[in-house]
Amino acid sequence: MTINALIFRGRHEPIEVQEISKPDYVTDDFVSVKLKSAALNRRDYWITKGLYPDIADNLPAVLGSDGCGIYEGNEYIICPNVNWGDGPFPSTNYTILGLQEYGTFADQIFVRKNKLYRKPDHLSSEQAACLPLAGLTAYRALFTRCQAKKGQKVLISGIGGGVALFACQFAIAIGAEVYVTSGDEKKIKKAIALGAVDGVSYKDPQAMKALGKKVGGFDVVIDSAGGKGFNQLLKMCKLGANVGIYGGTAGTISGVAVPNLFFKQISIHGSTMGSDEEFKKMIDLVNEYKIVPVVYKVRSLQEGNTSINDMSKNEHFGKFVLNI
Ligand SMILES: NC(=O)c1ccc[n+]([C@@H]2O[C@H](COP(=O)([O-])OP(=O)(O)OC[C@H]3O[C@@H](n4cnc5c(N)ncnc54)[C@H](OP(=O)(O)O)[C@@H]3O)[C@@H](O)[C@H]2O)c1
Repeated sequence: MTINALIFRGRHEPIEVQEISKPDYVTDDFVSVKLKSAALNRRDYWITKGLYPDIADNLPAVLGSDGCGIYEGNEYIICPNVNWGDGPFPSTNYTILGLQEYGTFADQIFVRKNKLYRKPDHLSSEQAACLPLAGLTAYRALFTRCQAKKGQKVLISGIGGGVALFACQFAIAIGAEVYVTSGDEKKIKKAIALGAVDGVSYKDPQAMKALGKKVGGFDVVIDSAGGKGFNQLLKMCKLGANVGIYGGTAGTISGVAVPNLFFKQISIHGSTMGSDEEFKKMIDLVNEYKIVPVVYKVRSLQEGNTSINDMSKNEHFGKFVLNI
């Protein structure tokens, strides 16, 4: 049995669709899903640039952590967790679909049956394929780690990010007052069209300061950048605020005004992915509020490498999807 997949063999090799054999880790609890759509994450880009742990040991790899496909006549989305375990934090052998195990950039995938969740009825396959990795990360950062609630003032930084956009949509859905930052004015306008109250550029410290003042401080801040701008986010916090951070796009955090941190009694929560239980809760939330993921561009599996490279342009608002 062969799989047609977008194969990654190493940084200097072409990334193209080739036939690959059924993986040898497949056991009786695995099922075969005929994929209809897959979606990209920044992780796929980092891996192709060699900027992710354990790449060399896992080549050739089929990338892709997000997918929607058919199993026994019904359509499912796939939870990308491998070995999270039963606890609130991942087990030591936790991995994410799309490196150690073959991912979703393929016409077929073998996954454990308990990773399949029915596709929300209100979504197309393309929309549903956007949910898994980014939706799960946003859910845990926002709700489990930062305890975001209706009526709270929530700031989401870098709204062009896939996770950030889900955090924005989820927070709006539960009735939070949501504000965003972006390096691109057009993306702020798009977030406002989705229901955010307002937004400013993270490149403009004065505008950031003014927003914090106008709002009266944020209860929750969700960030994936870190870097020098992180201190500015802390200054925009209310007493007792929860700050969630799941990425380090802008690098090392420096210049943090420590008194601001302890006088305001701010809690900073690192967050990564989420448990299978949180995945289920995320899908329930999407169903309850009829949340529709934003699709930026749809291409074919054969054009997958173009989309992976386009991620670096940072022009996207929403997800790159591959139709299979
Ligand atoms: N820990 C986890 O479980 C987890 C899960 C998913 C992703 N991540 C990490 O989180 C990061 C974001 O990933 P993603 O896939 O959601 O997003 P993405 O699609 O890679 O987008 C990154 C976004 O970061 C924003 N950004 C860049 N510089 C910024 C700055 N100085 N301040 C604030 N925002 C800035 C930009 O937003 P604008 O375009 O609006 O300017 C950009 O669109 C990546 O580093 C990724 O590896 C971690």
